[in-house]
Amino acid sequence: MYKIAVIPGDGTGPEVVAEGLKVMKTISEKFKFKYQLEHYDLGGERYLKTKEILPDSVLNELKQMDAIYLGAIGHPEVKPGILEQGILLKIRFQLDQYINLRPVKLYPGVYTSLKDKGPEDIDFIVVRENTEGAYAGVGGFIKRGTPDEIAIQEAIHTRKGVERCIRFAFEYCRKRNRKNKVTLCGKTNVLTYAFDLWERTFREVAREFEGIGTDYAHVDAICMWMVKNPEWFDVIVTDNLFGDIITDLGAMIQGGLGIAAGGNINPKGVSMFEPIGGSAPKYTGKGVVSPLAAISACQMMLEHLGEEKAARGIEEAIMKVVKQDVKSLSAGKMGYSTSEVGDLVVKYILK
Ligand code: IPM
Ligand code: MN
Repeated sequence: MYKIAVIPGDGTGPEVVAEGLKVMKTISEKFKFKYQLEHYDLGGERYLKTKEILPDSVLNELKQMDAIYLGAIGHPEVKPGILEQGILLKIRFQLDQYINLRPVKLYPGVYTSLKDKGPEDIDFIVVRENTEGAYAGVGGFIKRGTPDEIAIQEAIHTRKGVERCIRFAFEYCRKRNRKNKVTLCGKTNVLTYAFDLWERTFREVAREFEGIGTDYAHVDAICMWMVKNPEWFDVIVTDNLFGDIITDLGAMIQGGLGIAAGGNINPKGVSMFEPIGGSAPKYTGKGVVSPLAAISACQMMLEHLGEEKAARGIEEAIMKVVKQDVKSLSAGKMGYSTSEVGDLVVKYILK
């Protein structure tokens, strides 16, 4: 019996999470595993009503779960940062979900903005460090609001944090067993301290993994290569901020935020799975956004829990939907509503 926390969150989060849970129910009946859901109403609405962001009692409950399934965090009436830092980043940090794992995989039938590239070219995964870097929240203001204002925002890179992330990437690459190549994405030519540490650690860890090739690209160049030669990549490992940026680019080449999912992984603790697209306030409640990213996140969650057949079952159903049914993954252009797309996934699972 898996105990799964559900945080639908803000904006379109609840509507896509509902579809993921619909699929979860179907797949669990088919593959005969049991789970129990615990819903949490964290997000902008609760904050506006009660000023509560993420109470310690909730955080402690989350620590007892087998996994967390999250929709989206971010509300147009709440100052940017409050909910993102207070909920999403707090969970990532407090539960030590030190890996953010983001597959970039183009399924047959999905439109990619890259001309002349197909599913055989676009299939890699980004391992993003998820608890340090520029996200550590170290810094401050001096003379705020005056002409002499100074803002400092430090990036924190620890040997331990960097090493465990890089080791995860190599282990993942070996398990994935595709091109057997790990690319470090950094900026060694400018961030000469941080990425010196990354590069040295990368070279050391690589020695433990015979048969896995290595490569390096600066973050700006990798944005170019991801568009020009995505087939070069198998596993990309990078720091928190660069990982944030390049995975939005990755989402675009795999067909958009409507299909891009991610896992916040603590290999020995509680992990959290989410569509990476955000709360999309302008589409909220309209039933027009794709639930496939949230359904893919559910797939990643089941794979993580060890329900590999169920995960594959979901992926196969998603692949049928994108190949045969939806016209586009863009909001309002699918040719179906959010819940109809969820129903299609369910239909193929049952077939
Ligand atoms: C993501 C998001 C978050 C991040 C925001 C909402 C804090 O963009 O999951 O990629 O920057 O990590
Ligand atoms: Mn992001």
